[in-house]
Amino acid sequence: MHNLRDDIQLAEPSDRLTDIMTLFSRSEATLLTERELEVRVDAIVQAFVNAKAISTDIDLVTIADQFTDSQIPLTACNVDQYFNELTSNVVSHSIHTSSPQFIGHMTTALPYFVRPLGKLMMAMNQNVVKVETAKTFSFYERQALAMLHRLIYGRSDDFYRQHIQTSESTLGILTTGGTLANITALWCARNAALKPQADFAGVEQEGLLAALEFYGYKGAVIIGSSLMHYSFEKAAGLLGIGDRNLLKIPVDHNHHMDVQVLRKTVAECRDRKQLILAIVGIAGSTESGSIDPLAEIAVIAREAKVHFHVDAAWGGPVLFSEQHAHKLAGIEHADSVTIDGHKQLYLPIGIGMVLLRNPHLAALIEKNASYTVRKDSIDLGKRSLEGSRPGMILFLQAALKLIGQQGYALLIDAGIQKTQYLANQIRQRPEFELLLEPELNLLLYRYIPEPFRQKLATRTLTQAEQQSINDFNELLQNAQRQAGKTFISRTTLSINLYGQKQAIVALRAVIANPLTTKADIDAVLADQLQTAAQLPVVVSPEHANSEVTCDR
Ligand SMILES: Cc1ncc(COP(=O)(O)O)c(C=O)c1O
Repeated sequence: MHNLRDDIQLAEPSDRLTDIMTLFSRSEATLLTERELEVRVDAIVQAFVNAKAISTDIDLVTIADQFTDSQIPLTACNVDQYFNELTSNVVSHSIHTSSPQFIGHMTTALPYFVRPLGKLMMAMNQNVVKVETAKTFSFYERQALAMLHRLIYGRSDDFYRQHIQTSESTLGILTTGGTLANITALWCARNAALKPQADFAGVEQEGLLAALEFYGYKGAVIIGSSLMHYSFEKAAGLLGIGDRNLLKIPVDHNHHMDVQVLRKTVAECRDRKQLILAIVGIAGSTESGSIDPLAEIAVIAREAKVHFHVDAAWGGPVLFSEQHAHKLAGIEHADSVTIDGHKQLYLPIGIGMVLLRNPHLAALIEKNASYTVRKDSIDLGKRSLEGSRPGMILFLQAALKLIGQQGYALLIDAGIQKTQYLANQIRQRPEFELLLEPELNLLLYRYIPEPFRQKLATRTLTQAEQQSINDFNELLQNAQRQAGKTFISRTTLSINLYGQKQAIVALRAVIANPLTTKADIDAVLADQLQTAAQLPVVVSPEHANSEVTCDR
């Protein structure tokens, strides 16, 4: 490879600035090196995105050991050597999230066009915090957010004409993910509930303590189901509510929030003079893809005059599907909705958004600075938790146009259909137990070692035996992951199984990768069965204290 950096270490001090300048220059030599690197990176990219295995079987301790040097190199290193190290130490052991047999997390294959667009985004290096560094991107972002707003709320052409590019209106806020979208939504909700009034300047100015006192509350809570994503704990902490005041309503056997308990909890909060900042409904829970009864929750929130937030980070794009959109009925009554771009919109990691029913709600979180985000400006950084932000909107705009509503509908329908296929495979095999009927494209199941199958059939498993099954499933998931051929994730659920509430270790499949076929699903299960056959089953004390090997 042509190498610009070869001589740097030998250069005289007076030459070093010139050497460093070559990194930024547009000289022929620099261009040549850039092209060579691009060709090299292209080859790495192709191999990476086409890989079927999930990863190598290197263990995490060995990886950590490779990254223990804390010295910043004094002088620039050789670019060729740097790329060799990058490839062998980092890229080669990374997770192939686009593998069709990586069906355990919400991160998946990307459409081809995001890769060249990524290069364009980096080269343009727009900073969407302000119009002075993002002259077109600011408006481009507002347009895409209006499209997603329309998908949820379906307001009139006039409504969108009025708000889409009006500085005072905010139809949505782009974030780096669902966590920040949820936090932003609750920040808006808090400021709306404790807004300025008469000579009280509002919670944002005066702080939570003064605000609660002014409004006569004895504390504040956020209410959602026990399956709420942990980002709400971050929100509760950051907003000064406290994790303890994140009230978690139990779910029924379908993982849906129990609305009777919700109603009771709302009344109790009222009696205790606690401010309810928001009621959160989930459209596609992280653990199982379950969808809360959004329409019923909306009624309760409306009656109680409480902000209704829907976390549709996962399930939002289901709205594209004619066949399945009805499952999200009621989402249109939400005051705010989170959708992750890097989940089922098939965009690269680093894009989420919150859509706001009231275009003026976000005025309550506005900040200004004299050098930028000025009051009368169109700067997006005025009403955003983050400051500098990259032009991720390039990906969202491209996907909305190059995949389109029908394309997304096909992808969603296919994922749900393949999940039904997996559910059927699991039902048919005595080695597995389906733990929950899948509502979307997440599925929970577990492996039942042979010594326990009879008792499972007769529903007579003891607590100790359940624990043995839990231990086995943990072992199985670890072994499958470590081998690196296929991947399914794991979670622990506190669920009602056979009339008894217990902690169950579940294997969790997420079937969102458009490249995953039925044959891939079969291969993942086959790998799991083969792995299980190698593992010891520790039978619970009532059975024996011995170890037996599982048959399959
Ligand atoms: C339902 C739900 N909400 C929020 C989040 C947080 O999203 P992110 O990881 O993009 O911050 C997730 C992530 O898995 C999720 O499943």
